[in-house]
Amino acid sequence: MTTPDPSPLKIGLVTDIHYADTAANEKRDTRASLHRVRQAIGDFQTHDVDVVVCLGDLIHSGPDVEAERSYMQTIVAELRRVDRPIYFCLGNHCVDRLTKAEALEIIGQPTATFEAIHKGIRILGLDTCFNPEGSSYGRLNSDWRVAVLPEAELDKLEQSISKNTSPTLLFSHHRLDANDDWSLRNAEEVRRRIGPHKHLSYAVQGHAHLADFRSIGHQGFLTLMPMVYSDPKLNAYSILTVMSSQSIALQGFGNQTSWNP
Ligand SMILES: [Fe+2]
Repeated sequence: MTTPDPSPLKIGLVTDIHYADTAANEKRDTRASLHRVRQAIGDFQTHDVDVVVCLGDLIHSGPDVEAERSYMQTIVAELRRVDRPIYFCLGNHCVDRLTKAEALEIIGQPTATFEAIHKGIRILGLDTCFNPEGSSYGRLNSDWRVAVLPEAELDKLEQSISKNTSPTLLFSHHRLDANDDWSLRNAEEVRRRIGPHKHLSYAVQGHAHLADFRSIGHQGFLTLMPMVYSDPKLNAYSILTVMSSQSIALQGFGNQTSWNP
């Protein structure tokens, strides 16, 4: 087993940014997400994070493909101001009108999944935006309540977890720990595949717009608050410090509560 670097890995986390150049309503101030991202990036640099992970839903709905493409370009440019490696999970809103290829081209990431090792800790990002028959989300072909990880993706996930026993964290836009509209429809099957792998101790999730932690077997599932909300005081982002595969702590900013198991 790979020995982790003794200095902890610090991961800056943002999720559910929902940027759009549209008027605020009682639920969401979509334009405010631009300066909220800037604030998060500033704190990530001040706290000297090693990497940043964005858990998806970078944009909110616009009137057409061109509008959503422009929202994506604007928010990605803001996120990419961070002077650190940054990894992206796609959220359902990222690929509601845009195709995965279009979203990824703007984001500047070659694939919708990612895998990297920093300070001996492996980070794995899932692509959860698939319809039940296996097609990818895009061009308004999906129902936000229905996402399924196809068999081929389940196999790929299992293979990538098994091939390397470094301490591993999994990142997913959709929840893997529940059975509701914000969870993969086959979350139970995902857990059945990842459950036997002791070096995978935690999964970090977005999409549900709430803070939660659940323990299932030896694995912990952390759900993070969204960045978007209408109250200007309610920015939310966090820094996850990973001491080892068994020991992590979340420092919350704004509306994200800290969590220290
Ligand atoms: Fe979402």
